[in-house]
Amino acid sequence: MYSIDYRDLGTPPAKADEQVTLEIDGATVTVPAGTSVMRAAALADARIPKLCATDSLKAFGSCRLCLVEIEGRKGFPASCTTQVSAGMKVRTRSPRIDQLRRNIVELYVSDHPLDCDDCPANGHCELQDAAEVTGIKGSRYAPGKTQRGAAPDISNPYFDFNPDLCIVCSRCVRACDETQSTLALTIEGRGFDSRVSASEHQPFLASECVSCGACVEACPTAALSEKSLAQLGQPEKAVSTTCGYCGVGCTLKAEVKQETVVRMVPSRAGAANQGHACVKGRFAYGYATHKDRVLKPMIRKKITDPWREVSWDEAINYTASEFRRIQQKYGRNSVGGITSSRCSNEETYLVQKLVRAALLTNNVDTCARVCHSPTGYGLKHTLGESAGTQAFTSVQKADVIIVCGANPIDGHPVFGSQLKRRLRQGAKLIVIDPRATDLVRTPHIEAAYHLQLRPGTNVAVINALAHVIVTEGLTREDYVLERCEAKSYQEWKEFISDPKNSPEAMESVSGVPAEMVRGAARLYAAGPNSAIYYGLGVTEHSQGTTMVMGIANLAMATGNLGREGVGVNPLRGQNNVQGSCDMGSFPHELPGYRHVSDAIARGSFETAWNVTISDEPGLRIPNMFEAALDGSFKAMYIQGEDFVQSDPNTHHVTSALTAMECVVVQDIFLVETARFAHVFLPGSSFLEKDGTFTNAERRISRVRKVMEPLAGLADWEVTMRLAQALGYPMQYSHPSEIMDEIALLTPTFTGVSYEKLDRLGTIQWPCNDKAPDGTPTMHVGTFVRGKGKFYRTAYVATAERSTSRYPLLLTTGRVLYQYNVGTQTRRTRNLVFNKEDVLEMHPDDAEARGISENDLVGVASRAGEIVVRARLTRRIARGVVYTTFHFPESGVNLVTTENSDWATNCPEYKVTAVEVSKVTQPDAWRERVAAMRAARKGASVSVA
Ligand code: SF4
Ligand code: SF4
Ligand code: SF4
Ligand code: FES
Repeated sequence: MYSIDYRDLGTPPAKADEQVTLEIDGATVTVPAGTSVMRAAALADARIPKLCATDSLKAFGSCRLCLVEIEGRKGFPASCTTQVSAGMKVRTRSPRIDQLRRNIVELYVSDHPLDCDDCPANGHCELQDAAEVTGIKGSRYAPGKTQRGAAPDISNPYFDFNPDLCIVCSRCVRACDETQSTLALTIEGRGFDSRVSASEHQPFLASECVSCGACVEACPTAALSEKSLAQLGQPEKAVSTTCGYCGVGCTLKAEVKQETVVRMVPSRAGAANQGHACVKGRFAYGYATHKDRVLKPMIRKKITDPWREVSWDEAINYTASEFRRIQQKYGRNSVGGITSSRCSNEETYLVQKLVRAALLTNNVDTCARVCHSPTGYGLKHTLGESAGTQAFTSVQKADVIIVCGANPIDGHPVFGSQLKRRLRQGAKLIVIDPRATDLVRTPHIEAAYHLQLRPGTNVAVINALAHVIVTEGLTREDYVLERCEAKSYQEWKEFISDPKNSPEAMESVSGVPAEMVRGAARLYAAGPNSAIYYGLGVTEHSQGTTMVMGIANLAMATGNLGREGVGVNPLRGQNNVQGSCDMGSFPHELPGYRHVSDAIARGSFETAWNVTISDEPGLRIPNMFEAALDGSFKAMYIQGEDFVQSDPNTHHVTSALTAMECVVVQDIFLVETARFAHVFLPGSSFLEKDGTFTNAERRISRVRKVMEPLAGLADWEVTMRLAQALGYPMQYSHPSEIMDEIALLTPTFTGVSYEKLDRLGTIQWPCNDKAPDGTPTMHVGTFVRGKGKFYRTAYVATAERSTSRYPLLLTTGRVLYQYNVGTQTRRTRNLVFNKEDVLEMHPDDAEARGISENDLVGVASRAGEIVVRARLTRRIARGVVYTTFHFPESGVNLVTTENSDWATNCPEYKVTAVEVSKVTQPDAWRERVAAMRAARKGASVSVA
């Protein structure tokens, strides 16, 4: 059942430029060549009943209900599988057609209960529609025997499968194949014995199903149906908004009844997701109304005091007075603010404006510091813009795809499905990753090369790939000559040709056989369209920026930038990482990535904001912590960021927070960092506000309010009121006014407005006079910086080495069902799929330590120790262990070190030398967290 406000045209649109004119029921229709008769009829408002067809899937032609008459053709062709042709004359109704359709519907109805009044799909069921159109109220045929009374499968936490209601149209099977690319479903048996089966008779929960919901949406009846629909009833309206989870930025329709979300339906007009979503976006929104939401502002003098609930005015005035007191006592730069990549562009813009204009310091930073800051630095220096180069759809034109340090199947699932679709069409894949992710080998796809490198040796591998391309003459000299700086190219070529960068020389460093590197390099260079997608496995290293530059070098040298199907594509983790960086969240950059020392850029903000802005970069997050420990940094406004769980070396972070006099946390839950806060300001979820997010493709999408803020104020209103309490006149009546100000002051956003976003749906920046509707592909014809610049990328081993004391290398990642530090997803039924962080280790490493599957193991590094459960797998190489960081109980960042990227201070999460040993009791950390959680539920929150 698709969204309540959508009209299904039966088959997907044709892409041809050629137009064809035909006649349908006497009316003239012109459509692109390749369009089905069914779609053409729907566009001409002729209603052809259908069951097996839907416009998100290829036509299948099994139900025969859509038959029509075509002048000059024998019989009754199915309109869904028949393409239009010029001059064709089609009749969609005739006595004979009606009779045939009645017979078909009668047969379906004979095997389908007719108790529609009790069905969740009542009024929205395509079989019910077909019966109505054909005038069928019952069946002359004996009831089918196979499905009646079959037990429903209710194992999935979000949807049910009721075989009694199944008409075996196969739409679910095709959705799992064509839309999701998981192929978890089949139709077993024949005739009346056929039935849908998930992974050979398994319940959905135990099958290969990843709960994306594509099958549920494709189902024309309530055979597959959301549990929420049965509980809450049919929605009354749909609000188009953007997913609040990952950087894919799926456009979703929140279908609501009063202010309660009944279900989320991915928008087929969504440019990033094209009608698809993953389990998080489609189903895991329940956290927004979870009982743990804190809805009252709270303050306390000392972090050992109990919280006291106060009014918004008291909380905001107290915060402002504390910030002013601290600035007077310790100086202007003793305070700072942190923007959130989970909040909107407008909200992050306001926080950095508050810091710069009201607090008069550049001490602002963002959680992007700990994920993709090397992307910004590396791409800005090489190509001229701190962002990915393509739209997601570009991957459909790629011939060779490198996925490096990323696991899109889990981390960016909707893009992962698009990628798998392209791979199944024949594109070649090179995976560069210490772990055999799901892309490396499944029954449906297999990587041509898996370069299973040792953690921390990315640069060695990218240099070896480039070495092969240069020394074997596989570069695109014509492209480089025209588009890149000749001097930097020559210097890079000399550097990379050095035998010390050869695959053979680097093999002992990276562990990747030289022949594999040579093969992968030749494949990438041959293209003809080669694209690189990468994630935090590239950036979160001491050489994160070097690796980003190495990737850009490789793409420039092979001419793989500036058109569709190619490019350099960072897969951003959180929903608005791109946006928070764009909005001036870094201490050295104003919105639009302009350095604070740039007098012209600074001048424009000074005029608009009526203040003087410092031309000195402010403190980065790690510098703020160090200054706090030194005693010179005393207050912090943290919007939507949980340092204590997400940042490396937790002990260091908590000591720094403890040393401050006023820590203000604004969040929707009492997150771990709030344990160190003096003021807690309730945040608002993405359902409670208007704004925009910018995804990994630079695509700006609207977030629209579905319900009023549960705590009374949206985050942007809180920041605005705090600025006012600080004495700075900040006044907006709607986030659209904030976007107007951003557009006025940011050259890449000049053409962006809410009116245009409503009109176009989404916009990829740059959007200005040169590109009024946005820019899907960057660097077409010329690079943003003019000539592309090559950088020499010498491999320097990380200081973090395995030793006899810590012989294993720990690397980290994500799972599909949890998101980041789990604050949201842990408060949804996604816990049914994944309820704890586990440590993956190779069976040989486990055996050597006497460790078996599911044992509790201690993981010790020179920074700290944690306890998690062991999972033995050959996905991971010997000598390497892997875990996720979604659960505070596991405290994974207790073991990560303070090493960081040389250019941006992005922490080196991906390489930590550890030892693993079997333990029988959870360690002190887990016990302490458990005790604190218990205490927090009880006495620690007192009501004023
Ligand atoms: S929910 Fe998604 S993965 Fe699961 S069976 Fe349906 S389409 Fe396939
Ligand atoms: S479950 Fe729904 S979509 Fe799948 S075959 Fe049955 S009726 Fe069709
Ligand atoms: S892929 Fe990302 S943006 Fe899309 S629904 Fe899933 S979590 Fe949301
Ligand atoms: S809708 Fe055309 S054959 Fe089923």
